[in-house]
Amino acid sequence: MRQPPYLPFLDGPPGIAPGLKPIAPEAWLLPDTEAGSWLTEKRALMREQRDAVFAARDADAEMAEVAEAVLAVAGPARDDWPTALEAASSTVSDDLCVMIRSEDGLWRLRAASLCAPTYWRLSEKFEQPLGGLHSPVPGGDPGLAKRISRIFDGLRPDFILERCNWSVQPGKARFTPSSAPLKEMAAEMAEADALDQLHLRVERQTIRKMPETGAVLFTIRVVNDPLRAALATPGHIDAFADAWARVDPDMYRYKGWQLYDRLIGAALDAARNPVSS
Ligand code: HEM
Repeated sequence: MRQPPYLPFLDGPPGIAPGLKPIAPEAWLLPDTEAGSWLTEKRALMREQRDAVFAARDADAEMAEVAEAVLAVAGPARDDWPTALEAASSTVSDDLCVMIRSEDGLWRLRAASLCAPTYWRLSEKFEQPLGGLHSPVPGGDPGLAKRISRIFDGLRPDFILERCNWSVQPGKARFTPSSAPLKEMAAEMAEADALDQLHLRVERQTIRKMPETGAVLFTIRVVNDPLRAALATPGHIDAFADAWARVDPDMYRYKGWQLYDRLIGAALDAARNPVSS
């Protein structure tokens, strides 16, 4: 079983502090640890369910600039795609969201290739400003949205920022516009299966401003690993248990973690007592 590439629970419970850190340009989209398992499925989604996973309006120059930056590190697309953004997206596991600042000063989602949404629909969020995008998040609108907007305004093009969101879900599915089927699976899951069937779902995100058009490219890579792999050491088990216990109550409700409490308790017991599991 592989070691998951990101273990954000080691930094504590998920919150709404932006938690951005600068990364080196060579660490932007590579190594692409998900490419093997995901790219075939991603390209099939992009062809077969284009309306659900792609949207753009008046963003040709921004999409072309973003695509050039992605293809410069990921190599050329293998097939023909209707837009430059889709061509670029077909080469990396990451989803590509293009934020453009409108005349009213609001950053809006104006183009996206989005195949691994963490429980949201592109059709509902397309062209929304940061406030609308984050309205269901506790403290998301206007507090978090204003902070993100200031970060986008001040970002230098040669600076790349990284952050992670995380949660748990049953199974490895990445194309998850709704959490409802996952919640049903969780409700039916036996506690004895929790350590192997519950997965740590990490969204590794990067932010980069484009030098010519001034658009911000927001990338999202979803990485799912069984809790057994994430809880492989006593230190990781303690850190996870602590993060789970200390999450802010509003964030706990937003993430629907009450549904998972029973399974997390069982998974932690099984991880601590491998002989009896
Ligand atoms: C510095 C930049 C950003 C920060 C700090 C941030 C932070 C967050 C946080 C804390 C959440 C709660 C989700 C969780 O923890 O599971 C969230 C959700 C979300 N974010 Fe962001 N975000 C950023 C940029 C963006 C951008 C550029 C987009 C544009 C696509 C976006 C779209 C969303 C959406 C759609 C959700 C889910 C909201 C829902 O539940 O309906 N975020 N974000």
